[in-house]
Amino acid sequence: MTAPKTSPRLEIRDLVRSFDGKRVVDNVSLSIAPGQVTCLLGPSGCGKSTTLRMIAGVEMQDSGTIHVDGALICDTVFRVPPERRSIGLMFQDFALFPHLSVGENVAFGLKGAGTDRKARAHTLLDRVGLAHFIDEFPHQLSGGEQQRVALARALAPSPRIMLMDEPFSGLDNRLRDGIRDETLDLLKEEGAGVLLVTHEPEEAMRMADEIALMRAGRIVQRGAPYTIYNAPADRDAMAFFSDINIVRATARGALADTPFGPFLAPGVADGTELEIVFRPQHVGIDFDRGGSGPLPTERAGTPARGIVERARFMGSESLIEFRMDHDGQMLKATVPNVFLPEKGRPLWLTVRRDRCFIFPREGDNPSRTVS
Ligand SMILES: Nc1ncnc2c1ncn2[C@@H]1O[C@H](COP(=O)(O)OP(=O)(O)O)[C@@H](O)[C@H]1O
Ligand SMILES: [Mg+2]
Repeated sequence: MTAPKTSPRLEIRDLVRSFDGKRVVDNVSLSIAPGQVTCLLGPSGCGKSTTLRMIAGVEMQDSGTIHVDGALICDTVFRVPPERRSIGLMFQDFALFPHLSVGENVAFGLKGAGTDRKARAHTLLDRVGLAHFIDEFPHQLSGGEQQRVALARALAPSPRIMLMDEPFSGLDNRLRDGIRDETLDLLKEEGAGVLLVTHEPEEAMRMADEIALMRAGRIVQRGAPYTIYNAPADRDAMAFFSDINIVRATARGALADTPFGPFLAPGVADGTELEIVFRPQHVGIDFDRGGSGPLPTERAGTPARGIVERARFMGSESLIEFRMDHDGQMLKATVPNVFLPEKGRPLWLTVRRDRCFIFPREGDNPSRTVS
C-alpha cells in the first residue's frame, strides 16, 4: 500500500502584485506543511503584509495561484471569499470586541449550538491558561492576556492556516518570549500551517521551522534557521542576521589575496571584485609582541594588525572596533565576557577561515537597521 499523498496546507505559486506600476510582490512561491511554521522575514516595506493579505483574500493578486490542502482557492479568475478560506488571522493591533465577554470573543466565529460554542471557547481559553477569565471583559485583562485571547479566538474555528502579521510587536520584551513559546506550542498542537510575518531576525530564528527571507518583493532564500544563518545566499542575507565585516579583494589565479592571507576563489575570473565577509564573533584577537603577531595557522590564516578605536561592554560579550593598519578600514570583533582594551592599543586579528564567505562585490554597504 502506498501512503496517501498529503498536500501542503498552503501552497502559493508565483504571486505577483503591483501598486502604481511597481511590483511589491514579485513571483513569490511558498509551501507550508501541516504543523509547520514558516516565517516570512524581511525589512519593512519588502512586501510581507501584501503577500499575507493576498493569501487571506483581502487583497487580489495580479497573477499567481493559492491552494489550501491541495484545492485551488484563488487564481486570477476564481476566488474563494476570505471567510470561506479556513484561514485564521492575527495581527499586531488585534482588536477584541470590547462589549463581548472573553468567552464570547473566542466563540464569535464559531457556528453551531450555544453549548458547543461555549465548550470550544472554554477548551481554548483553558489551553492558554485563561479559562478563569471566560466571563470577564477585555478591558479587565492585561495586554499579554488580551493577546492570548486573540490567539484563542483565531484558533477556535480550527483554521487550516494561521496567518500572523507581526503579532508580538505590541508586547513588551519580557512578556514576549513566554507568549511566543506558548503560541508556538498551541499552533503545533492544532496542526495548522502557520505563516508568520516579522522583520525581526531573532523572532524568526526563535519561531520558525523554515525562514523565507524576503527582499524587495522577492524571496531570496528559504531554509531552516540554522541553514539561513550559516549558509547565507548573499552578503545582505548575512547582514540581516548580524553585524558583518567586509574585506575587499580582487581575484587572481583563483585566489583572493587579503591582509588575512589568500582565500580560494575557484572558478572566479581574474579581475573579479570580491568581498570576504565574516561575523565579528569569528574574529580572533591576539597580543602584539613588539610589532609582530601570532604565527599563521591553517584554521585562522594570517594575522593582520589593527589599532583599538573603541571597546564596549555589551552584557554577555564585549565589542571591539579596530582601525586596520593595512588600509585604515574598520573591523569589529566580539569576545565573550569582558575585554576592554584601551583606545590606541595595537592588537592582531585573525578570522576563522571556515566561517568566511566569499561573495561578488555588491553596491552600497548593508545596513542591519530594518524598520
Ligand atoms: N494599497 C496599497 N497601495 C499602494 N502601495 C501599497 C499598498 N499596500 C502596500 N503598498 C506598498 O507596497 C510595499 C510593500 O508593503 P507591505 O507589503 O506592507 O510591506 P511589509 O509588510 O513588508 O512592510 C510598500 O512600499 C507599500 O508602501
Ligand atoms: Mg507589514
